Amino acid sequence: MISQQILYGGDYNPEQWLDEPEILKKDVQYMKEAGINAVSMGMFSWSALEPAEDEYHLEWLEERISTLYENGIYTILATPSGARPKWLADRYPEVLRVDENRVRKLFGARHNHCYTSPVYREKVRKINMLLAERFGAHPGVILWHISNEYGGECHCPLCQKAFQEWLAGQYGSIEILNKKWWTTFWSHTYNSFDDVESPSPIGEMDCHGLNLAWKRFVTEKTADFLEAEIQALRDAGAGQPTTTNLMYDYPFLNYDRIAKSIDIVSWDSYPAWHKREDINTALDNAMQHDYMRSLKKKPFLLMESCPSATNWGKVSKLKRPGVLAAAGIQALAHGSESVLYFQIRQSRGSSEKFHGAVIDHSGRNDVRVFKEASALGAGLKGLKEILGSEVKAQAAVVYDIENRWALEDARGPRNENLYYHESVLKNYRALRNKGLNVDVIHETASLDGYRLVIAPMLYLFHDGFEEKIRTFVENGGCFVMTYWSGIVDRDDRCFLGGTPYGVMDVFGMRRTETDALYEGECNTLCPAEGSCLARDYECRNLCDLITLEGGKALMTYGSEFYQGTPAVVENSFGQGMAYYVGADAEQGFYDDFYGCLIKRTGIVPVVKGTVPQGVEVSGRTGADADYVFVQNFRNDSINIRQLELEGEILYGGSMDVLTPYESLVLRVEKR
Ligand code: GLA
Ligand code: ZN
Repeated sequence: MISQQILYGGDYNPEQWLDEPEILKKDVQYMKEAGINAVSMGMFSWSALEPAEDEYHLEWLEERISTLYENGIYTILATPSGARPKWLADRYPEVLRVDENRVRKLFGARHNHCYTSPVYREKVRKINMLLAERFGAHPGVILWHISNEYGGECHCPLCQKAFQEWLAGQYGSIEILNKKWWTTFWSHTYNSFDDVESPSPIGEMDCHGLNLAWKRFVTEKTADFLEAEIQALRDAGAGQPTTTNLMYDYPFLNYDRIAKSIDIVSWDSYPAWHKREDINTALDNAMQHDYMRSLKKKPFLLMESCPSATNWGKVSKLKRPGVLAAAGIQALAHGSESVLYFQIRQSRGSSEKFHGAVIDHSGRNDVRVFKEASALGAGLKGLKEILGSEVKAQAAVVYDIENRWALEDARGPRNENLYYHESVLKNYRALRNKGLNVDVIHETASLDGYRLVIAPMLYLFHDGFEEKIRTFVENGGCFVMTYWSGIVDRDDRCFLGGTPYGVMDVFGMRRTETDALYEGECNTLCPAEGSCLARDYECRNLCDLITLEGGKALMTYGSEFYQGTPAVVENSFGQGMAYYVGADAEQGFYDDFYGCLIKRTGIVPVVKGTVPQGVEVSGRTGADADYVFVQNFRNDSINIRQLELEGEILYGGSMDVLTPYESLVLRVEKR
């Protein structure tokens, strides 16, 4: 808990308005009116802070931080490394990134810097230290926001050298690297670590071991840069906690690693509302909140979200009335301690001038978005007591980024549309529809405390993951794994001797082959005798062919040359149960199947009654009370009496009906 209040506010860029004192004054007045108590500042201020090399101007920032603080508004202070001044790029070209075609970028955009460059690191260290000396003890600064949305990679000579050194540390000898990357294939054997180059479209792209290692290196380099930024703050005496803002389903960094370098996870949520059914958009966003929370299994911060329309999509649709509040409350429901926007005041020029903001170009407080933001600001005051409470889940779904890297890089059995994200989402949705809190975890997470763990398409096993499954099931857990799992090791080398590797006895089966279906083709899953499921379900995309080895078939395939063979297998192992789902089944299968498993495992949902379609139910556990969040993401009203709710209403109107996008938050006394 970094504040006694739910942090409400967002990105604020006063450096764009320093010559407009009236506007700056008005901003403070409007912020107070909207219930704003926190801003994040400084992420793109470097050229205002250091307009020429070693010429520093921090006084304007100090004035802003102090004025805001005097008005009850805290600052989340960013380090400015996300975008550097022109003089820096001109004088030290090594700070500019080199792309995968080995072309050095010109100055421009943002996030365009080499993480290895000693010059860039030194310059960042210096400005960070100055900020820390000045604001490390400022009562208005409650949190450090390190850089902004770290991302991208650099292929410059400095980075190549660093990659080679990192590989030497990882593999020990070039012989071991050659063996693990299977480089005798196509005569790609390396004689020394100095031979290895980062993947490139004009060079090597087909060595999957190399591709995986490079992605791991990029994450390590980024984490190392992030840690160096934090070290500079600490060396200059700053004690406030740190965060960095992560992105939605970002495929280029391993956030499991990045999260280890910071104190608090935060992320930027920009769902495309009203593009498809909002209940699906909401569910996908919910999964992302749960993923972020699960990185540390602790409350997180919603660092950015849009008060109305973003401006970077193909079409920038306005958020319908009520969606601003629904999105904010949804973050809290999943464990956030803040509702923050990008941005408080809309910039006047350049590429984000049409991006939504709390204060738009009209500069008025009687416009729709400002009024909605103010209403939520007022509503959040009544929710203060949820701070410190946590989302506790008895069920988890594994969504592992290294697995995704390997899965999507592999050639065969489907080279496009593997639907990994969708497959995870189907499993997640089935649990959420039953009213469960769900963690979304990496393979590295501890499985202790879960009753049910589901691992969809877990193609890559990290070292020892098979033992983790075994121990979990042996000790009474229920583990579900789906098709195309346990196929390769951490270097993307196929396991020999049968799969799913190391756990064929746990699941009581062996995968012998995997059939890929063309887009639009389907097979069926048919209940076998004694199955808890009573109807047929469609399955698509991938179908594992399975031989039983002690397990019992729950479902068999309905067609093809493997008609009648096992498709879903149940096995009791040790004190627990293991299930293997051999094909990409339709949503209804997971809904019904997890209905059976939840009963069997004794997991307790957040509410007693049945969750209506399109309604989200989540729970937070506090020291004295529990909190139940119910949200309607449908565009019609819904009767929620069937949820059998009880408790005191902290937010929202009634326990009977929720209008479109309406939310309800209840306080439930501990029994
Ligand atoms: C990201 C960035 C912000 C801003 C928003 C716009 O999240 O961090 O600086 O560009 O996108 O949506
Ligand atoms: Zn570089």
